[in-house]
Amino acid sequence: MILNRTEVALVFILCPMDIVALWWVSGNLPAMDSNGICQKSRRTAGNQAALCQSQPEVLYAVARGTSLGVRECQHQFRHHQWNCTQQGKSFRRILQQDIRETAFVFAVVAAGSVHTVTQACSSGELLQCGCEDPHGRRPPQLPATFGKQGIIWEWGGCGDDVEFGFEASRRFMDTKRRKTKSDVRTLIDLHNYEAGRLVQSWSLVCHGQHAVRNHMWTECKCHGLSSSCSLKTCWRKMPHFREVGDRLLQRYNSAFRVMGSNDGGMLVPAGQGVKPPDGLDLVYSDESPDFCLPCRRTGSLGTGGRACDSRVTGMGGCRQLCCGRGHKKETQLVELNCLCRFYWCCTVECEKCSTSKNLTLCL
Ligand SMILES: *[C@@H]1O[C@H](CO)[C@@H](O)[C@H](O)[C@H]1NC(C)=O
Ligand SMILES: *[C@@H]1O[C@H](CO)[C@@H](O)[C@H](O)[C@H]1NC(C)=O
Repeated sequence: MILNRTEVALVFILCPMDIVALWWVSGNLPAMDSNGICQKSRRTAGNQAALCQSQPEVLYAVARGTSLGVRECQHQFRHHQWNCTQQGKSFRRILQQDIRETAFVFAVVAAGSVHTVTQACSSGELLQCGCEDPHGRRPPQLPATFGKQGIIWEWGGCGDDVEFGFEASRRFMDTKRRKTKSDVRTLIDLHNYEAGRLVQSWSLVCHGQHAVRNHMWTECKCHGLSSSCSLKTCWRKMPHFREVGDRLLQRYNSAFRVMGSNDGGMLVPAGQGVKPPDGLDLVYSDESPDFCLPCRRTGSLGTGGRACDSRVTGMGGCRQLCCGRGHKKETQLVELNCLCRFYWCCTVECEKCSTSKNLTLCL
């Protein structure tokens, strides 16, 4: 099990181990296996170190999840002035602040970790977990079309055990934060982590009496004589991660500012007439900086050189992305894979072709 450099870096910055900051700052992270990570973080006392030692492969799945989360962040923000880039120190600066963007990152990496751990369970990679136990489940609410006469169905197959993923994400990510962070900041981070997990696995909130919309899918397979489908086996699947990203972006758009309550134990909305945050809301405490121009302090890289679309008026359009500085046309040579051939079995070889592409770039 080898993590790439980015994944190692993400584990250290996002999982609250003391050594995190040191590693990230050193900027010189070798690819290493998950056992290595545990050794490096041996200085971290207590729970987390023990977890790391006893379940390094779960940590590995969490790490891949944070990486999945960041890739999704880059997709969701591709047309925004801040595009979730990991270039230079920018990403780290964003995470040090407590702004709307930080809230999204925290939520999406937590969601990602639930996703990859759950997937690792379903695919049999982890000893600690497997498919969801269908006996523990109440009867599903299948779409009406399944209720056709004569079809019998039952739980079977391999359902995703999202609850294991959920708990693993909590165990690895929700320990005490570094002391330099204020209590309010800790509350906000934990809140956004949890919101991400809930958006990933909303079915968990349905376990009470409230039948809230369930984001898990139900997949079925037909059995019976010559696929007559007189028997169906069904199991629960997680939504595609893209769907989770889309929902989190909606949450980002409606995120709001909070502050600590008088006793510091709770988050309350900073504005008047705003409802207290519920479990799925993303929250932050500081307004975002300007991302139009580069600024070292805030981690803004500016939007100069970003590709934009002059025909679009909203997000991704040149007017919005270039912050009114205008844009230029440029022809660039781009390399593409072409003339791909499939060789038995199983490689694909392609040639490189370059074509010129007309781009519009922000000044
Ligand atoms: C994201 O923004 C940075 C800085 O503006 C830019 O260098 C990079 O190419 C952008 N990434 C993508 C995928 O557009
Ligand atoms: C790019 O623009 C030039 C000049 O405007 C045009 O001749 C050319 O066909 C365009 N290329 C592409 C790939 O659109």
